Amino acid sequence: MPHDRPHVAIVGAGVIGLSCAWQARRDGWRVTLIDPHPMRGSSWAAAGMLAPVTESTPSEPGVLELGLQAARLWPQFASDLTHDAAQPCGFNDAGTFVVGIDRDDASELTRVQSQLAAYQLDYTPLTPSEARARESALSPHLSSAMFVPGDTSVDNRALLGALTAVVDRLGITMLRERATTVDAQHVRTAAGSTIMADAVVVAAGIDTPALIPGLDIRPVKGQILRVLMTGATGKLLTATVRACVHGRHVYLVPRSNGEIVIGATMEERGRDIAVTVGAVGDLLQDAREVVPGIDECELIETWAGLRPVSRDNLPIMRIVNGVVVASGHGRNGILLAPLAAHVVKDILKGVVTP
Ligand code: GLY
Repeated sequence: MPHDRPHVAIVGAGVIGLSCAWQARRDGWRVTLIDPHPMRGSSWAAAGMLAPVTESTPSEPGVLELGLQAARLWPQFASDLTHDAAQPCGFNDAGTFVVGIDRDDASELTRVQSQLAAYQLDYTPLTPSEARARESALSPHLSSAMFVPGDTSVDNRALLGALTAVVDRLGITMLRERATTVDAQHVRTAAGSTIMADAVVVAAGIDTPALIPGLDIRPVKGQILRVLMTGATGKLLTATVRACVHGRHVYLVPRSNGEIVIGATMEERGRDIAVTVGAVGDLLQDAREVVPGIDECELIETWAGLRPVSRDNLPIMRIVNGVVVASGHGRNGILLAPLAAHVVKDILKGVVTP
């Protein structure tokens, strides 16, 4: 039967591919997603911070600017997704506390604050006791604190659940096969399928260079863990806490069910995803120093994921050899998903996006 709607084939069903699929479908495209293991890459492994300010460095103003643009899209993206999926997507707009433990950590925080002020970014300096008054599980031994209201979070697994529900509800085809070659109008798979389409998008994270040779995207390993507050004590944290602990960085991202995700290492180890005793030990030691109540939590999961990182830490969202590429989102894949979907939608429409 002939189809009157244009067809887009999207390789990769992580948060970027799924978001592009959803938005393209909303725009009237017929959509096929191709992924042997939908949702099991770095999107599943992520912590879900939507943190343009605290995840960027002053040496990368482009990363900050893209992150801020994406953060502005998030409330509407979350609300539309909750509507289309008919289930929550785990968005938490509670903001982020940034704290330090010793005097050097406090100097680091002062440096960060002057950078935030230079960029006119919103933050509130706090005394340690003011921070504890707002987030009572924080350690009484902090040296410094501030609050960044615009850095929010989303439960990435709830998000993926909502995006999957949208795939089902909107009639997007999911082909669980591994793509081996792509061109402007075809995707061929290891299982022998050929998918013909009016446009092809590759959002395959660290597998993108295998399909689009020459793209510089490498895996950067992150080890991460999840703890759960047990018993009748309820939730330990309401907002994300980022900390500098004797010069080392750790983050704690709370979920609505009382879980806390603690992460993460940055390791250049190819595709190794072994979870090591040293990394888990360091993350737990630092997290316990910042939020001592972690001791009462149950350790429920440890894992490692591979961030798709480009050479300049900026995502690659453009046409390469006739194929639309949306990959290399690095530490900010979840944050940048609405922006990637928006850019890809415009590219598919032929609109030039700056
Ligand atoms: N965005 C958090 C991380 O990459 O660890």
